[in-house]
This record gives sequence, C-alpha cells and structure tokens, in this order.
Amino acid sequence: MEIERLGRTCGARITGIDLTDDLDTATIAQIRASWLKHRVLAFADQRMDDDALERLTLAMGGFGEDPFFDPIEGRKNVAAILREADEQSPLFAESWHSDWSFLRKPPSGTCLLAVEIPPIGGDTLFADQAAAFAALPNDRKDYLRSLTAIHSAQRGYAPDGLYGDNDKGRSMAIRPGKDALATQTHPLIRPHPETGEEVIFSSLSYVVGIEGMEEIEALTLLSELLEWQTREEFIYRHQWEPNMLVIWDNSSVLHRATGGYDGHRRELHRTTIAAA
Ligand code: SIN
Repeated sequence: MEIERLGRTCGARITGIDLTDDLDTATIAQIRASWLKHRVLAFADQRMDDDALERLTLAMGGFGEDPFFDPIEGRKNVAAILREADEQSPLFAESWHSDWSFLRKPPSGTCLLAVEIPPIGGDTLFADQAAAFAALPNDRKDYLRSLTAIHSAQRGYAPDGLYGDNDKGRSMAIRPGKDALATQTHPLIRPHPETGEEVIFSSLSYVVGIEGMEEIEALTLLSELLEWQTREEFIYRHQWEPNMLVIWDNSSVLHRATGGYDGHRRELHRTTIAAA
C-alpha cells in the first residue's frame, strides 16, 4: 500500500491495494491507522461494487445509523448521493458538516464510492478540525473547552428545513421528519473517540446553540469559529476520479460538497461507519 500525502494537514491518496481482495487483519489495521493519521483516504483505481463497499464498511467498524435517508433498492446500508444532469434543487450538503453529529454516538467515518463522476466540478472539500484547534491561541482554547454545543438535524431535515416538505424535484431519497427537531449535546471541543486529540466539533449545519448562552451570542460565536475552522490552511480539496473510494474520519474533519457540474450527472454510493 503506497500513501501519498495530498493536503497540507489532511488527505492522502492510496494506491497498491485492491479493496475487493479478502483483506487480512493486518491490512485492515494498516488502513485504519492511515485513516486516523491522514483523516481522508482516497483509494484510486478500485473496481468496487456495493457488495465490496459493504464488506469494507464492516471491516472498518460496521454500519452506522443513517437517519433521514432511504437506502438504495435492495440494500439496507447503502445510500446514493445523487444529482441528475438537469436537476434544479439546491445542491445537497453544500454547507460544512460532520455527518449526523446530532446523534448521541455520531458515526466514526463515512465511505463514498464513485459511481458516476462528472467531467468537471463536484469536488468534496474537507477541513481538518484537529489542526484548526491546535492553531488557536491558548486562552481561546481554554474558553472553547468550557462550552457545550447543542446539535440538531432541524435546519436540514425538519418538515420546514432545507430538505423538508418544500424541497421539490430532488432525486436523492431524503426523508425529512419531526424527529429532526430532537437535540443532542456534545462538548464543543470533543476529544477524538479513538486518538484523544482535541477537535473542534461544530458546524452551522447541525449546531443550533451553546448551552447557557443566548441564541444570538451563540450564533455569532459559532459563525466566527466556522470562519476559523475553514481557513484555507486546514482545507483539502478532493477531486474525484472514476473508480475511486474515499473514507474520511467523521470525528476530525468537516466536509462539504461543491457544484460546478451543471448538465452532468453525479452519483456516489455512501455508507457510514459505526462509532468506535
Ligand atoms: C456528503 O456530504 O455526504 C456528500 C459530499 C459530496 O457530495 O461531495
């Protein structure tokens, strides 16, 4: 397995491994260690189908929960991130987030397999949240460590949310509902569940407030923090290739989709990896 660093602080391209092989324990351990180190792994030249994607997800820790999405036909744990060539609905997942951070135990990672990649655009951006925290001044770190964030899926998936009842013409199988109004707290600076690194665990997609703080004050703080979290030096821009599988560490990076491929179809198959 050859590993080439891609971004300044996160992102690596992996070659020399066939993920459809029966991977032994040592190889899985090597992939997991690289994943925790580089946070985003892009495996080039893979010929994976949904069976292979499921096998890899199981080997990496098992399936996580996927609320608000229907799986693709015939599968329980594979969802399609899909946009038809002529689709007019707002881009899916265009704002920064960590997948399903509003769950009590958010997934440890996400796998995304290229099925149909547009010839231009459609990059995925990743922002390293351990590096973003490490670069803060010490007094700011101490203050942020004292805060508890309130997470919720309401802005996206509630009936009146972005993907709610008024979201028409979308080809993805999104299923909004009142469950999205529930809230869940997590420390704003969350120790990584496996490495213990301190990570900024916040996004405006899913953080709706800070415990004990007025809403307006909290949103001002969270917006300013997001500007810091997504500074150029923490970002890795991932350009997709056909036959590519990407796995990211959902506990230490934020990610978001980008457009720029109007008139082209884009489809990726996605699984989430259960919390460790
Ligand atoms: C996602 O957030 O799961 C999708 C990212 C992308 O479409 O690039």
